[in-house]
Amino acid sequence: MRELSTRTANFTDSVIRRMTRIANRYGAVNLSQGFPDFDPPVEITDRLAEIAGKGPHQYALTWGARNFREALAKKQEHFSGMKVDPDTEIVVTCGSTEAMMAAMMSVTNPGDKVVIFSPFYENYGADTILSGAEPIYVPLVPPSFTFDAKQLETAFKEGAKALVLCNPSNPCGKVFTLEEMQTIAELAIKYDAYVITDEVYEHIIYEPYKHVYMATLPGMRERTIICNSLSKTYSITGWRLGYVIASPAIIDRVKKVHDFLTVGAAAPLMEAAVTGLCFDDGYYQGLQAHYTHMRDLFVGGLKNLGFTITEPQGAYYVLMDVSEFGVKDDVAFCEWMAEHVGVAAVPGSSFFREDVHHLVRFHFAKKDETLKEALGRLAFLKEKAKAAEYVSWK
Ligand SMILES: Cc1ncc(COP(=O)(O)O)c(C=O)c1O
Repeated sequence: MRELSTRTANFTDSVIRRMTRIANRYGAVNLSQGFPDFDPPVEITDRLAEIAGKGPHQYALTWGARNFREALAKKQEHFSGMKVDPDTEIVVTCGSTEAMMAAMMSVTNPGDKVVIFSPFYENYGADTILSGAEPIYVPLVPPSFTFDAKQLETAFKEGAKALVLCNPSNPCGKVFTLEEMQTIAELAIKYDAYVITDEVYEHIIYEPYKHVYMATLPGMRERTIICNSLSKTYSITGWRLGYVIASPAIIDRVKKVHDFLTVGAAAPLMEAAVTGLCFDDGYYQGLQAHYTHMRDLFVGGLKNLGFTITEPQGAYYVLMDVSEFGVKDDVAFCEWMAEHVGVAAVPGSSFFREDVHHLVRFHFAKKDETLKEALGRLAFLKEKAKAAEYVSWK
Protein backbone atom coordinates (compact mmCIF):
# COMPACT_ATOMS: atom_id res chain seq x y z
CA MET A 1 0.00 0.00 0.00
CA ARG A 2 1.18 3.53 -0.63
CA GLU A 3 2.14 5.79 2.25
CA LEU A 4 -0.60 7.80 3.91
CA SER A 5 -0.24 11.59 4.04
CA THR A 6 3.05 12.95 5.33
CA ARG A 7 1.22 16.03 6.58
CA THR A 8 -0.61 14.00 9.23
CA ALA A 9 2.01 11.29 9.81
CA ASN A 10 3.32 12.88 13.01
CA PHE A 11 -0.07 13.44 14.55
CA THR A 12 -0.50 11.75 17.89
CA ASP A 13 -3.99 11.31 19.24
CA SER A 14 -5.04 14.21 21.46
CA VAL A 15 -3.46 13.73 24.90
CA ILE A 16 -6.49 15.40 26.48
CA ARG A 17 -8.97 13.00 24.92
CA ARG A 18 -6.64 10.05 25.63
CA MET A 19 -6.67 10.98 29.33
CA THR A 20 -10.46 10.72 29.30
CA ARG A 21 -10.17 7.15 28.01
CA ILE A 22 -7.60 6.36 30.73
CA ALA A 23 -9.86 7.91 33.38
CA ASN A 24 -12.70 5.66 32.22
CA ARG A 25 -10.42 2.59 32.30
CA TYR A 26 -9.47 3.15 35.98
CA GLY A 27 -12.73 4.68 37.20
CA ALA A 28 -10.82 7.87 38.04
CA VAL A 29 -12.52 11.20 38.67
CA ASN A 30 -12.03 12.78 35.28
CA LEU A 31 -10.64 16.29 35.65
CA SER A 32 -8.74 16.05 32.36
CA GLN A 33 -10.94 16.89 29.34
CA GLY A 34 -12.83 20.12 30.02
CA PHE A 35 -16.54 19.47 30.07
CA PRO A 36 -19.14 19.92 32.82
CA ASP A 37 -20.82 17.04 34.62
CA PHE A 38 -23.83 19.23 35.42
CA ASP A 39 -26.81 19.86 33.14
CA PRO A 40 -27.25 22.72 30.68
CA PRO A 41 -29.93 25.33 31.50
CA VAL A 42 -33.32 23.62 31.59
CA GLU A 43 -34.86 26.27 29.29
CA ILE A 44 -32.52 25.10 26.53
CA THR A 45 -33.13 21.38 27.01
CA ASP A 46 -36.91 21.92 27.29
CA ARG A 47 -36.81 23.78 23.99
CA LEU A 48 -34.84 20.90 22.46
CA ALA A 49 -37.57 18.48 23.57
CA GLU A 50 -40.18 20.62 21.80
CA ILE A 51 -38.11 20.77 18.65
CA ALA A 52 -37.62 16.99 18.59
CA GLY A 53 -41.29 16.67 17.60
CA LYS A 54 -41.63 19.49 15.13
CA GLY A 55 -38.16 20.13 13.67
CA PRO A 56 -36.24 21.62 11.98
CA HIS A 57 -34.56 18.36 11.02
CA GLN A 58 -33.08 19.19 7.62
CA TYR A 59 -30.04 21.24 6.64
CA ALA A 60 -30.09 24.78 7.91
CA LEU A 61 -28.60 27.54 5.78
CA THR A 62 -24.92 26.73 5.33
CA TRP A 63 -23.67 29.68 7.39
CA GLY A 64 -26.24 29.16 10.12
CA ALA A 65 -29.97 29.56 10.73
CA ARG A 66 -31.03 33.18 10.43
CA ASN A 67 -32.60 33.49 13.91
CA PHE A 68 -29.46 31.98 15.45
CA ARG A 69 -27.20 34.49 13.67
CA GLU A 70 -29.48 37.37 14.62
CA ALA A 71 -29.44 36.31 18.26
CA LEU A 72 -25.63 35.97 18.13
CA ALA A 73 -25.25 39.45 16.62
CA LYS A 74 -27.42 40.94 19.39
CA LYS A 75 -25.49 39.14 22.11
CA GLN A 76 -22.15 40.20 20.65
CA GLU A 77 -23.27 43.83 20.52
CA HIS A 78 -24.62 43.67 24.06
CA PHE A 79 -21.35 42.46 25.56
CA SER A 80 -18.74 44.04 23.30
CA GLY A 81 -20.50 47.07 21.85
CA MET A 82 -19.66 45.84 18.32
CA LYS A 83 -22.34 46.09 15.65
CA VAL A 84 -22.36 42.82 13.71
CA ASP A 85 -24.29 42.18 10.50
CA PRO A 86 -25.79 38.68 10.86
CA ASP A 87 -25.76 38.16 7.08
CA THR A 88 -22.26 39.25 6.18
CA GLU A 89 -20.23 39.00 9.38
CA ILE A 90 -21.12 35.65 11.00
CA VAL A 91 -20.67 32.00 10.09
CA VAL A 92 -22.02 29.32 12.42
CA THR A 93 -19.68 26.33 12.66
CA CYS A 94 -19.46 22.92 14.30
CA GLY A 95 -17.91 24.16 17.53
CA SER A 96 -15.14 26.69 17.79
CA THR A 97 -12.89 23.79 16.78
CA GLU A 98 -14.18 24.11 13.24
CA ALA A 99 -14.25 27.90 13.55
CA MET A 100 -10.50 27.95 14.26
CA MET A 101 -9.73 25.53 11.43
CA ALA A 102 -11.84 27.52 8.96
CA ALA A 103 -10.22 30.78 10.13
CA MET A 104 -6.70 29.37 9.69
CA MET A 105 -7.49 27.95 6.27
CA SER A 106 -9.07 31.21 5.17
CA VAL A 107 -6.08 33.30 6.25
CA THR A 108 -2.97 31.25 5.55
CA ASN A 109 -1.19 29.75 2.58
CA PRO A 110 1.12 26.74 3.00
CA GLY A 111 4.38 28.04 4.47
CA ASP A 112 2.85 31.13 6.11
CA LYS A 113 3.81 31.72 9.72
CA VAL A 114 1.37 31.97 12.61
CA VAL A 115 2.25 33.18 16.12
CA ILE A 116 1.00 30.97 18.92
CA PHE A 117 1.57 31.76 22.59
CA SER A 118 2.94 28.88 24.65
CA PRO A 119 1.30 27.35 26.69
CA PHE A 120 -1.44 26.86 24.12
CA TYR A 121 -4.62 24.92 23.57
CA GLU A 122 -3.62 21.62 21.96
CA ASN A 123 -5.60 22.04 18.74
CA TYR A 124 -3.70 25.08 17.45
CA GLY A 125 -0.60 23.09 16.55
CA ALA A 126 -2.67 20.58 14.56
CA ASP A 127 -4.67 23.40 12.93
CA THR A 128 -1.49 25.00 11.61
CA ILE A 129 -0.22 21.66 10.29
CA LEU A 130 -3.55 20.91 8.58
CA SER A 131 -3.56 24.30 6.92
CA GLY A 132 0.12 24.00 5.96
CA ALA A 133 1.16 26.98 8.08
CA GLU A 134 4.17 27.07 10.40
CA PRO A 135 3.79 28.04 14.05
CA ILE A 136 6.16 30.50 15.73
CA TYR A 137 5.81 29.98 19.48
CA VAL A 138 6.16 32.93 21.84
CA PRO A 139 6.36 32.03 25.53
CA LEU A 140 3.98 33.32 28.18
CA VAL A 141 6.21 33.43 31.22
CA PRO A 142 4.85 32.22 34.57
CA PRO A 143 3.67 33.21 37.13
CA SER A 144 1.82 36.09 35.40
CA PHE A 145 2.11 34.37 32.00
CA THR A 146 2.99 37.62 30.34
CA PHE A 147 4.96 37.91 27.09
CA ASP A 148 8.03 39.85 26.11
CA ALA A 149 6.94 42.50 23.58
CA LYS A 150 10.35 42.42 21.88
CA GLN A 151 10.14 38.67 21.37
CA LEU A 152 6.64 39.08 19.97
CA GLU A 153 7.84 41.78 17.59
CA THR A 154 10.64 39.47 16.40
CA ALA A 155 7.99 36.89 15.48
CA PHE A 156 6.14 39.49 13.42
CA LYS A 157 9.42 40.57 11.81
CA GLU A 158 9.88 36.96 10.73
CA GLY A 159 6.77 37.53 8.64
CA ALA A 160 3.96 36.12 10.78
CA LYS A 161 0.70 36.56 8.92
CA ALA A 162 -1.54 35.88 11.91
CA LEU A 163 -1.50 35.47 15.67
CA VAL A 164 -3.76 33.17 17.64
CA LEU A 165 -4.98 34.68 20.90
CA CYS A 166 -6.69 32.41 23.41
CA ASN A 167 -8.27 34.75 25.92
CA PRO A 168 -9.11 33.76 28.64
CA SER A 169 -6.45 31.16 28.20
CA ASN A 170 -6.64 27.42 28.39
CA PRO A 171 -4.55 26.01 30.09
CA CYS A 172 -3.02 28.77 32.24
CA GLY A 173 -6.19 30.72 33.09
CA LYS A 174 -4.64 34.01 32.02
CA VAL A 175 -6.86 36.96 31.14
CA PHE A 176 -4.91 39.35 28.92
CA THR A 177 -4.80 42.92 30.21
CA LEU A 178 -5.84 45.91 28.12
CA GLU A 179 -2.18 46.96 27.87
CA GLU A 180 -1.13 43.51 26.61
CA MET A 181 -3.97 43.52 24.10
CA GLN A 182 -2.93 46.97 22.90
CA THR A 183 0.65 45.79 22.42
CA ILE A 184 -0.57 42.85 20.32
CA ALA A 185 -2.89 45.13 18.34
CA GLU A 186 -0.16 47.70 17.63
CA LEU A 187 2.16 44.98 16.34
CA ALA A 188 -0.58 43.36 14.25
CA ILE A 189 -1.31 46.72 12.62
CA LYS A 190 2.37 47.61 12.20
CA TYR A 191 3.16 44.29 10.51
CA ASP A 192 -0.19 43.95 8.72
CA ALA A 193 -1.18 40.68 10.41
CA TYR A 194 -4.49 39.12 11.41
CA VAL A 195 -5.44 38.21 14.97
CA ILE A 196 -7.51 35.05 15.31
CA THR A 197 -9.10 35.06 18.74
CA ASP A 198 -10.40 32.06 20.66
CA GLU A 199 -12.89 33.52 23.13
CA VAL A 200 -14.74 30.40 24.26
CA TYR A 201 -14.22 31.36 27.94
CA GLU A 202 -15.39 34.95 27.41
CA HIS A 203 -18.00 34.62 30.19
CA ILE A 204 -15.93 32.57 32.63
CA ILE A 205 -13.87 35.27 34.32
CA TYR A 206 -13.10 35.84 37.99
CA GLU A 207 -13.23 39.22 39.72
CA PRO A 208 -11.51 41.66 39.28
CA TYR A 209 -10.50 40.54 35.77
CA LYS A 210 -12.40 41.74 32.71
CA HIS A 211 -12.66 40.42 29.18
CA VAL A 212 -11.37 42.81 26.52
CA TYR A 213 -12.56 42.18 22.96
CA MET A 214 -9.61 42.47 20.56
CA ALA A 215 -11.95 43.43 17.70
CA THR A 216 -13.02 46.58 19.60
CA LEU A 217 -9.50 48.04 19.85
CA PRO A 218 -8.74 50.85 17.38
CA GLY A 219 -7.84 49.51 13.94
CA MET A 220 -8.56 45.88 14.86
CA ARG A 221 -12.13 45.31 13.65
CA GLU A 222 -11.06 44.51 10.08
CA ARG A 223 -8.10 42.30 11.06
CA THR A 224 -9.63 40.30 13.94
CA ILE A 225 -11.29 36.96 13.36
CA ILE A 226 -13.30 35.96 16.40
CA CYS A 227 -13.75 32.22 17.02
CA ASN A 228 -16.20 31.38 19.76
CA SER A 229 -18.75 28.80 20.78
CA LEU A 230 -21.71 27.95 22.96
CA SER A 231 -19.96 24.89 24.42
CA LYS A 232 -18.70 26.46 27.64
CA THR A 233 -21.12 29.36 28.10
CA TYR A 234 -24.21 27.12 28.11
CA SER A 235 -22.59 23.83 29.20
CA ILE A 236 -23.40 22.15 25.86
CA THR A 237 -19.99 20.92 24.68
CA GLY A 238 -21.64 17.98 22.89
CA TRP A 239 -23.86 20.17 20.73
CA ARG A 240 -20.92 21.39 18.66
CA LEU A 241 -22.17 24.92 18.07
CA GLY A 242 -19.54 27.55 17.34
CA TYR A 243 -19.13 30.63 15.20
CA VAL A 244 -16.79 33.02 13.47
CA ILE A 245 -17.33 36.78 13.53
CA ALA A 246 -15.23 38.95 11.23
CA SER A 247 -15.43 41.59 8.51
CA PRO A 248 -17.50 40.79 5.38
CA ALA A 249 -14.37 40.26 3.26
CA ILE A 250 -13.07 37.60 5.66
CA ILE A 251 -16.46 36.03 6.33
CA ASP A 252 -17.06 35.63 2.61
CA ARG A 253 -14.02 33.33 2.51
CA VAL A 254 -14.82 31.55 5.79
CA LYS A 255 -18.32 30.76 4.49
CA LYS A 256 -16.82 28.88 1.54
CA VAL A 257 -14.29 26.96 3.63
CA HIS A 258 -16.98 26.06 6.15
CA ASP A 259 -19.36 24.93 3.40
CA PHE A 260 -16.85 22.36 2.16
CA LEU A 261 -15.65 21.32 5.61
CA THR A 262 -18.98 20.50 7.23
CA VAL A 263 -21.88 22.08 5.25
CA GLY A 264 -23.41 23.33 8.46
CA ALA A 265 -24.08 23.03 12.16
CA ALA A 266 -26.97 20.91 13.46
CA ALA A 267 -30.29 22.61 12.64
CA PRO A 268 -32.37 21.43 15.65
CA LEU A 269 -29.59 22.30 18.06
CA MET A 270 -29.23 25.81 16.65
CA GLU A 271 -32.98 26.29 17.01
CA ALA A 272 -32.94 25.17 20.66
CA ALA A 273 -29.81 27.14 21.55
CA VAL A 274 -31.37 30.44 20.41
CA THR A 275 -33.13 30.30 23.78
CA GLY A 276 -29.75 30.52 25.52
CA LEU A 277 -28.46 33.32 23.30
CA CYS A 278 -31.49 35.38 24.38
CA PHE A 279 -30.88 34.96 28.15
CA ASP A 280 -30.61 38.23 30.04
CA ASP A 281 -27.63 39.44 32.09
CA GLY A 282 -28.77 37.45 35.12
CA TYR A 283 -27.76 34.22 33.39
CA TYR A 284 -24.17 35.37 32.83
CA GLN A 285 -23.90 36.72 36.37
CA GLY A 286 -25.14 33.36 37.67
CA LEU A 287 -22.62 31.54 35.47
CA GLN A 288 -19.78 33.66 36.81
CA ALA A 289 -20.92 33.12 40.41
CA HIS A 290 -21.18 29.37 39.81
CA TYR A 291 -17.66 29.15 38.36
CA THR A 292 -16.27 31.36 41.13
CA HIS A 293 -17.75 28.91 43.62
CA MET A 294 -16.21 25.89 41.84
CA ARG A 295 -12.86 27.66 41.61
CA ASP A 296 -12.90 28.54 45.31
CA LEU A 297 -13.85 24.99 46.24
CA PHE A 298 -11.30 23.18 44.10
CA VAL A 299 -8.38 25.60 43.83
CA GLY A 300 -8.82 26.53 47.51
CA GLY A 301 -8.90 22.81 48.31
CA LEU A 302 -5.64 22.17 46.44
CA LYS A 303 -3.99 25.01 48.32
CA ASN A 304 -5.25 23.65 51.64
CA LEU A 305 -3.64 20.33 50.75
CA GLY A 306 -0.34 22.19 50.35
CA PHE A 307 -0.05 22.10 46.56
CA THR A 308 1.49 24.91 44.53
CA ILE A 309 -0.84 26.12 41.81
CA THR A 310 -1.23 28.98 39.34
CA GLU A 311 -4.24 31.17 40.20
CA PRO A 312 -6.79 31.07 37.35
CA GLN A 313 -8.05 34.54 36.32
CA GLY A 314 -10.49 33.05 33.83
CA ALA A 315 -11.53 29.75 32.17
CA TYR A 316 -11.91 26.63 34.33
CA TYR A 317 -8.47 25.11 34.60
CA VAL A 318 -5.71 25.10 37.18
CA LEU A 319 -2.07 24.14 36.67
CA MET A 320 -0.49 22.32 39.62
CA ASP A 321 3.24 21.97 40.20
CA VAL A 322 4.32 18.34 40.74
CA SER A 323 8.09 18.93 40.75
CA GLU A 324 8.28 17.91 44.43
CA PHE A 325 7.70 14.29 43.31
CA GLY A 326 10.65 14.31 40.90
CA VAL A 327 8.42 13.91 37.85
CA LYS A 328 10.45 13.57 34.65
CA ASP A 329 7.71 12.13 32.46
CA ASP A 330 4.46 13.94 33.17
CA VAL A 331 2.45 11.75 30.77
CA ALA A 332 3.44 8.62 32.70
CA PHE A 333 2.81 10.48 35.96
CA CYS A 334 -0.75 11.38 34.92
CA GLU A 335 -1.45 7.78 33.92
CA TRP A 336 -0.08 6.60 37.28
CA MET A 337 -2.18 9.21 39.12
CA ALA A 338 -5.36 8.12 37.32
CA GLU A 339 -4.69 4.49 38.27
CA HIS A 340 -3.29 4.84 41.79
CA VAL A 341 -4.80 8.06 43.11
CA GLY A 342 -8.02 7.90 41.09
CA VAL A 343 -7.95 11.41 39.61
CA ALA A 344 -7.23 12.14 35.94
CA ALA A 345 -5.37 15.29 34.89
CA VAL A 346 -3.71 16.37 31.64
CA PRO A 347 0.11 16.37 31.51
CA GLY A 348 1.32 19.96 31.22
CA SER A 349 3.81 19.09 28.46
CA SER A 350 0.95 18.80 25.98
CA PHE A 351 0.41 22.58 26.24
CA PHE A 352 3.98 23.89 26.21
CA ARG A 353 6.45 24.29 23.40
CA GLU A 354 9.20 24.58 26.00
CA ASP A 355 10.52 21.58 27.91
CA VAL A 356 7.97 21.63 30.75
CA HIS A 357 7.28 18.39 32.64
CA HIS A 358 6.47 19.57 36.15
CA LEU A 359 2.88 20.72 35.69
CA VAL A 360 -0.45 18.96 35.44
CA ARG A 361 -3.75 20.56 34.48
CA PHE A 362 -7.05 19.91 36.25
CA HIS A 363 -10.36 21.36 35.18
CA PHE A 364 -13.03 22.19 37.72
CA ALA A 365 -16.29 22.48 35.74
CA LYS A 366 -17.80 19.83 37.96
CA LYS A 367 -20.48 19.31 40.61
CA ASP A 368 -19.46 19.98 44.21
CA GLU A 369 -19.56 16.28 45.02
CA THR A 370 -17.23 15.46 42.11
CA LEU A 371 -14.73 18.12 43.17
CA LYS A 372 -14.89 17.02 46.81
CA GLU A 373 -14.36 13.39 45.80
CA ALA A 374 -11.33 14.45 43.73
CA LEU A 375 -9.90 16.48 46.61
CA GLY A 376 -10.48 13.54 48.99
CA ARG A 377 -8.43 11.33 46.68
CA LEU A 378 -5.75 13.98 46.05
CA ALA A 379 -5.25 14.21 49.83
CA PHE A 380 -3.27 10.96 49.41
CA LEU A 381 -1.28 12.09 46.37
CA LYS A 382 1.77 13.39 48.27
CA GLU A 383 2.00 10.25 50.39
CA LYS A 384 1.50 7.87 47.44
CA ALA A 385 3.77 9.74 45.03
CA LYS A 386 6.59 9.95 47.57
CA ALA A 387 6.26 6.25 48.40
CA ALA A 388 6.12 5.18 44.74
CA GLU A 389 9.17 3.27 43.62
CA TYR A 390 10.18 1.82 40.25
CA VAL A 391 7.70 4.01 38.43
CA SER A 392 8.22 5.11 34.86
CA TRP A 393 7.63 8.79 35.56
CA LYS A 394 10.72 9.36 37.75
C1 LIG B 1 -9.46 27.22 24.32
C2 LIG B 1 -10.45 26.28 23.72
N1 LIG B 1 -10.85 26.49 22.47
C3 LIG B 1 -11.73 25.66 21.87
C4 LIG B 1 -12.24 24.56 22.53
C5 LIG B 1 -13.21 23.66 21.83
O1 LIG B 1 -14.43 24.30 21.78
P1 LIG B 1 -15.67 23.71 20.97
O2 LIG B 1 -16.37 22.74 21.85
O3 LIG B 1 -16.50 24.91 20.71
O4 LIG B 1 -15.16 23.11 19.71
C6 LIG B 1 -11.84 24.30 23.84
C7 LIG B 1 -12.34 23.10 24.55
O5 LIG B 1 -11.89 22.72 25.58
C8 LIG B 1 -10.92 25.19 24.45
O6 LIG B 1 -10.51 24.99 25.69
